[in-house]
Amino acid sequence: MSTSTPSGRVAVITGASSGIGEATARAITADGHRVALLARRADRIGKLASELDGAIAITADVTDRASLTAAAAQIQKQLGGADILVNNAGVMLLGPFGDGQHEDYAPMLDTNLYGAITATEVFLSQLQDGGGDLINISSVAGRTARPGNAVYAATKWGINGWSESLRQELQPDVRVIVIEPGAVATELTDHITHAETKAAAEKMYGDNAISARDIAEVIAFAVSRPHGVSLNEILIRPTGQSL
Ligand SMILES: NC(=O)c1ccc[n+]([C@@H]2O[C@H](COP(=O)([O-])OP(=O)(O)OC[C@H]3O[C@@H](n4cnc5c(N)ncnc54)[C@H](OP(=O)(O)O)[C@@H]3O)[C@@H](O)[C@H]2O)c1
Repeated sequence: MSTSTPSGRVAVITGASSGIGEATARAITADGHRVALLARRADRIGKLASELDGAIAITADVTDRASLTAAAAQIQKQLGGADILVNNAGVMLLGPFGDGQHEDYAPMLDTNLYGAITATEVFLSQLQDGGGDLINISSVAGRTARPGNAVYAATKWGINGWSESLRQELQPDVRVIVIEPGAVATELTDHITHAETKAAAEKMYGDNAISARDIAEVIAFAVSRPHGVSLNEILIRPTGQSL
């Protein structure tokens, strides 16, 4: 069974103010859908919304459930509800594991994992109304692990396990699609607090990274498939990336 996927859907994108979220907003709008741009930096999403047909910007923090329920109410009222949720908001605070980095752990868990869980439970009834798509931005770090990314990897392995459970629980009404990027040139490394790790990550990304648009195009392709066809898990690395 392969039912068609209509154009003119409504996509909610968390972390739409830069990088993969911004590029995904552009790609999904180019395919004829409307987007609701969620992030904390109001100036960035406001400017982006002014460039994209039918887009709205809503200041929201995925660690603040009340801001997500307010966003969901506004999207229901202004756009008729969400058909696609892209759980993209994330931080990658890499560094050696230990008490020296303990302040990095709660923001990663709260944003990358619990933020995605909260956004999904808040928007789920909208997604279930008419056949929705849940796109969870995981990482190559959700399939592999290496020294220096332990807690970040924990959040992304968490996303993968949670997504697989949801895939089975929500089928066939909601498609669950996990995207696992490798190194992508964005602002993600800017926030690393451990100086040596930040320098190494910037070198690694500088030598070998693909663009946010490369990821966005895959997301746009996945949501454009007929609803009966589900690309459940997609790993996208630079060709020269080993791990
Ligand atoms: N770049 C890579 O190599 C790579 C690889 C694998 C996976 N990923 C994943 O891709 C996703 C997007 O990252 P990116 O590479 O595009 O980096 P980015 O440019 O730094 O984008 C991160 C986005 O997350 C938002 N964000 C952070 N904390 C938030 C919060 N509490 N509430 C709402 N939004 C929040 C930021 O917006 P505000 O600061 O305006 O709120 C920003 O728009 C992340 O989940 C990341 O783990 C990236």
